[in-house]
Amino acid sequence: MTTTRELPFLGSQRPLVGRLNEMIRDARAIGPVVKVRTLAGDEAWLVTRYAELKQLLVDDRLGASHKDPAHRARYLDNPLFDMGILSDDPAVAAEIHGRMRSALTPHFSAKRMMALRPRIAETTNRLLDGIIAKGSSAELHGELSLPVSFLVLCDLLGLPDPDKFMMMLSTAGDVVDSEKAEGGRLVLFDHLLELVGYKHANPGDDLISALCAAGIDDDFITKLIAITSFSYLVTPKNLSAGIALFAEHPDQRALVVKDPSLLPGAVEEVVRMSKTSESCQPRYAHADIDIAGVTIKAGELVLCDHYAAGFDDRVFDAPERFDVTRSPNPHIAFSYGSWYCIGAPLARMEMQEVYAALFTRLPDYRLAVPIDRIPMINDLQLGGGIAAVPVEW
Ligand code: HEM
Repeated sequence: MTTTRELPFLGSQRPLVGRLNEMIRDARAIGPVVKVRTLAGDEAWLVTRYAELKQLLVDDRLGASHKDPAHRARYLDNPLFDMGILSDDPAVAAEIHGRMRSALTPHFSAKRMMALRPRIAETTNRLLDGIIAKGSSAELHGELSLPVSFLVLCDLLGLPDPDKFMMMLSTAGDVVDSEKAEGGRLVLFDHLLELVGYKHANPGDDLISALCAAGIDDDFITKLIAITSFSYLVTPKNLSAGIALFAEHPDQRALVVKDPSLLPGAVEEVVRMSKTSESCQPRYAHADIDIAGVTIKAGELVLCDHYAAGFDDRVFDAPERFDVTRSPNPHIAFSYGSWYCIGAPLARMEMQEVYAALFTRLPDYRLAVPIDRIPMINDLQLGGGIAAVPVEW
């Protein structure tokens, strides 16, 4: 029998761009659903195979409830993750989750997102003007991916100060010092509540104003905005992973430049391959589930690794090959079923706009360090992953 000390430890290895690290490969070699130790020190089931993950994502015995939240196994030691437990009753949790999706989804339609497209292009080009004016090298995570993502997020929500908001999210998302994170969470929620009050009085063409106009109560709006903002934080990491992948594979970039109709498919390929941090989604079983030869017991923590599933060679031919023409590409990096990412249309559009501008403005950019040496933050899920993408041209 496996003892706790022998369990693979999440976050114990440096993440890599465009391929899985040994820890995840080793865990997957043991089986599609394996026991691991989380960053918070607890035990969990890690799901890394495509078929099993898809099956669990539509299994209503798995969800966002726990009958004894105070004593549940934790993925990360951060109070925001406690918000992921919507109730101690599975039916109530499913109802709240459904309400949350119904409130947000209409505001992320492809049509609404199209209206943001010119602003995203304009913002990207303005940032690139500054980068190009400075010389022949840059750090594109800090100078492009992060600012463009935060400016777009603030545009979407109708927030006045991107730097202040980025700071608040980063403090509340700290997974090392839970007291600091709790302080940050309170400041963030006070700020959001104040903003909601302001938007009631001064509505604009933004998501917070639209949620106010829909008659949703202020506390729920605040939660929706926090969930959206934290979910959104994956976007700059994916953007940067793509910048690195296109630099590492100039032949693939050339294909897209030659035929821009390949760009949407290329973005899907980036999203499939963008695992650059411990980035699982925690769920809890509320009944025993037999799957892949193991029994997940009621109350146990299940970590859905959407990205590892994208490297499953039973579904993806040569999964570590970056292929902008890959078709079909049925990745589940945006999740699946009732958990499907609400912001996927925005993420796709933002990535398309940024890469299109980058290829036009800096057609010959290349990585200034080998792709395996790109600076990474190892073990912090919320702020973890790519820390810098140094390039030159
Ligand atoms: C490339 C970028 C992105 C990726 C890979 C991604 C991926 C995901 C994944 C895997 C989930 C499922 C989470 C879970 O099961 O708990 C999710 C949920 C969500 N995402 Fe995204 N996301 C991205 C960008 C965005 C953006 C830009 C937004 C909005 C501005 C957004 C908003 C959301 C929301 C609100 C949820 C919650 C859905 C639910 O609980 O039912 N995401 N995303």
